[in-house]
Amino acid sequence: MSYPFQEGTTSTKIAAPCIMVIFGATGDLTRRRLVPALYNLARDGQLPAHFCCVGFARRHKSDDDFRHEMHDAINEFSRVKPVDEELWKTFKGQLFYHESEFDTDEGYEALANRLRNLDIQFGTKGNRVFYFSTQPSFFPTLVKKLKKHGLLYPHNQTHGPWSRVIFEKPFGHDLASAIELQNGISDDLDESQTYRIDHWLGKETVQNLLIFRFTNPIFEALWNHHHIDHVQIAVAEELGVGTRGALWEEQGMLRDIVQNHMMQLLSLIAMEPPSRLDADAIRDEKVKVISSIVPISAKECQKCVVRGQYGPGIINGKDVIGYRQEGNVAPESEVETYVALKLHIDNWRWAGVPFYLRSGKRMPKKVTEIAISFKEAPGSLYQERGRHNPSNVLAIRIQPNENISLTTNCKVPGQENLVHPVKMDFRYSAYFGAAQQEAYERLICDCMAGDSTLFARNDEVLASWKLLTPILERWRNNKPTNFPNYQAGKWGPVEADVMLAADGRQWRLL
Ligand SMILES: NC(=O)c1ccc[n+]([C@@H]2O[C@H](COP(=O)([O-])OP(=O)(O)OC[C@H]3O[C@@H](n4cnc5c(N)ncnc54)[C@H](OP(=O)(O)O)[C@@H]3O)[C@@H](O)[C@H]2O)c1
Repeated sequence: MSYPFQEGTTSTKIAAPCIMVIFGATGDLTRRRLVPALYNLARDGQLPAHFCCVGFARRHKSDDDFRHEMHDAINEFSRVKPVDEELWKTFKGQLFYHESEFDTDEGYEALANRLRNLDIQFGTKGNRVFYFSTQPSFFPTLVKKLKKHGLLYPHNQTHGPWSRVIFEKPFGHDLASAIELQNGISDDLDESQTYRIDHWLGKETVQNLLIFRFTNPIFEALWNHHHIDHVQIAVAEELGVGTRGALWEEQGMLRDIVQNHMMQLLSLIAMEPPSRLDADAIRDEKVKVISSIVPISAKECQKCVVRGQYGPGIINGKDVIGYRQEGNVAPESEVETYVALKLHIDNWRWAGVPFYLRSGKRMPKKVTEIAISFKEAPGSLYQERGRHNPSNVLAIRIQPNENISLTTNCKVPGQENLVHPVKMDFRYSAYFGAAQQEAYERLICDCMAGDSTLFARNDEVLASWKLLTPILERWRNNKPTNFPNYQAGKWGPVEADVMLAADGRQWRLL
């Protein structure tokens, strides 16, 4: 079964014939992201010619019930809608539902039989992508059951079918739990079959970080402590926790955003050029950077880490409630909705260059940005009344409007030598058009093609937890006394401004 290749799609990867089994197929992620991603891959001619998808969950449902629900889900969440009914006729025939508990042997026996039959029907050659869209506590059980029922193949067989597993985040909630999780799967699953998803790595602008750095020598020549004053990474959300109160109470900002997404951004910005463009060479360099970040001691934690929680405030002219008033949140909750960190990377390139990270909910606007601030020009030429001229800043916007801008100084037209900062702006959508592949599409396709470059490796995950777990422990032993400490609609607690002011710097206006 195949789809026409649409003009404008550029993937050069070959996604191999396979069956994708989604564990947790009645869940939110499946309907919001996973099945719409498969549908868009089908639309763009990027699904393998031989493919089908089986949803696995415990709720009672027929194949047709599942297909109806997925039709509605695509209409609601797909980046291209409404559903193309011609395409749907083919696509729905590739969707199936398998009803089972995660831990019953009969369910896996029945699954194995069903997959064998589907292999014959669809020509999928025994190849499998197992997508674990479930709570992480189920991961070891799922791996063991798949292994027991012959659904996971040895990783080193050179001929014959392959099996790969995509793990949804979070992978652990601290260092010890991440190690435990890894130990729970590693007897039955090789790292080469393990695809830990961080969907930010599937975003175009995040992938562009490497291309931008390593194909533009004018920037790479300046990419070090000789020329860079500091780096800021900001992940700001306008939204509060909304319906995710119960989940957020267990997570908090450090775990939800910093440990995974922000560490990925930092490592891509700071890593050395890889020797090759393959998954391991790139991930080797990323791990080296994370492992080179100076651990934050108890003493430093006071000066280099700020946590915050939003109280009631105003967003876009509307009153909004504070975190402690959100549904399923404890009235005295001590969980953070804001984190700011100052990190140092102890290597040759970055000696003495601080990396300031901040991430918050209920900020004035949604924006994710990496800003590289260069050092000031030496001497005092063109400095009016001793006033310093603005530094050059290279700002890379990851979302919502993907762009890259470079701030330089310019002469204001007229008799005087007045200096004014101006921006050179490159906007993705203006140049390449609006429709971009979504992160889940790219990542699912990469897994089918056996490319794990954009997935987190175990040592990356552990290095990140190793750095951040001591902060979580310190927080646990030192309860916050001033929560809520920022108003919804403001840029976080004043302590975060003080942290930068102590270094003679300030947060960028976003
Ligand atoms: N939702 C998102 O946008 C999002 C974003 C990033 C990461 N994630 C991660 O992705 C994972 C899934 O999230 P979600 O929001 O889709 O979760 P969810 O809505 O709670 O769905 C959980 C799924 O697991 C199934 N399930 C639970 N226990 C089971 C059991 N014992 N046997 C068989 N099936 C069982 C449920 O089936 P029944 O319906 O039959 O109970 C349901 O299909 C989580 O780890 C989450 O952290 C989600």
